[in-house]
Amino acid sequence: MDRLIVQGQRKLFGDVVISGAKNAALPILISSLLSSEKLVLTNVPKLFDIKTTEKLLHFLGVEIEKDKNSIELSAKTINHIDAPYDLVKTMRASILVLGPLLSRFSKARVSLPGGCAIGSRPVDIHIRGFEAMGAKINIDKGYINASTEHLPEGKLIGAKINMDQVTVTGTENLMMAATLARGETILENAAKEPEVIDLGNCLIKMGAKILGLGTKKITIIGVESLFGANHKVMFDRIEAGTYLVAAAMTGGEICCHGVESDKIEAILLKLKEAGAEIKIEDKKITIKSDGQLKAVNLTTSPYPGFPTDMQAQFMAMNTVAKGSSKVIEKIFENRFMHVQELIRMGANIDIKKNTAIIRGDDKLSGANVMATDLRASASLVLAALTAKGDTEIERIYHLDRGYEGLEKKFNQIGAKIKRVK
Ligand code: EPZ
Repeated sequence: MDRLIVQGQRKLFGDVVISGAKNAALPILISSLLSSEKLVLTNVPKLFDIKTTEKLLHFLGVEIEKDKNSIELSAKTINHIDAPYDLVKTMRASILVLGPLLSRFSKARVSLPGGCAIGSRPVDIHIRGFEAMGAKINIDKGYINASTEHLPEGKLIGAKINMDQVTVTGTENLMMAATLARGETILENAAKEPEVIDLGNCLIKMGAKILGLGTKKITIIGVESLFGANHKVMFDRIEAGTYLVAAAMTGGEICCHGVESDKIEAILLKLKEAGAEIKIEDKKITIKSDGQLKAVNLTTSPYPGFPTDMQAQFMAMNTVAKGSSKVIEKIFENRFMHVQELIRMGANIDIKKNTAIIRGDDKLSGANVMATDLRASASLVLAALTAKGDTEIERIYHLDRGYEGLEKKFNQIGAKIKRVK
């Protein structure tokens, strides 16, 4: 398994080009199942999870052609309606094939995604939503078996669905299914994440009728069929946030290109509160810091609140900032896997249920640490960049799932990170 060796006490200077958003690209790639015509996508990041999604779509029968800058997908026919466990277990987002398969092919058999390091991550809201639209669903031997063959023309029926928790992929799954359902579907308490809006905008280009994207109530009026479209995937908010925090912590000045500041306001506010200087220009953000930061309190919540995917990175920042701080994780029940590893590097952190109390100011020292989930691994890289001495990070396949060319991009702005096979 690959490891990263990260040299400590490096200041970061220079330019970083932010890639396309993993969490927009995944549902948008899967939306190709909804149409027999060509969906042409650009700015799709080169990530492990994208490869997994392409493998899954190919298995289902989607034709995929790729060139340097674009991916073309067309689901003229489907050879399978099931997403097998060995593909789903590596990537939970595979659950997103359920909606499109059900609404276009009236049948779907998708392995239950199972939990992951950050929590149990049930899909009950997805399932209840499909049942509200008339689908028959039973769970057997770890598989979700769904069918609408008993319904007129085998089509889902539009319904009013009230999701009792804000769920990003739940909103995406039900929105995709509703585009081809009979009649109108209303999703109450819908997720407002920019990635949900990006998917919705792509679906509208494909001929879907969707109102209320970005609000807590999304209305979808079902249509007969969807067409092909061209779509550029939005930038990755979390990748951008990760580099901005890195520069704030290590000191220096970097410019992130290809970003829209209005989509990362909560992150920018916290960086300013910590004492970093932020300059916003069209499509780029420059951050400047002397590395002497003030620790900041944060509580994660659905968009536009502070994103849970940035919690680990800001915790790393707090461990080397002045003063003590409180980090409350309200989205996932176990998203503090990075804490033990940061403590191995000398951080001073106490956990009480979903609250971490961090006493900053410690100079971290390099150590051998282990990545456990995507964003936890990122927080270890950030901590390692400021620590005294080298840090060795194992199991970095977690990083490769969500960060395109991480060590290349960091080394281009002054880091010294080596990948060891
Ligand atoms: C998406 O996961 C993202 N993944 C996650 O990013 C992100 O952390 C999360 O949204 C929150 O923003 C993708 O978009 C592929 P949820 P998702 O459904 O949709 C509970 C990363 O690092 N819930 O919004 O799986 C759930 O347990 C990943 O890129 C139910 O109870 O998250 C959680 O507590 C990690 N029942 C809360 O809702 C359901 O049916 C929010 O989960 C669905 C969710």
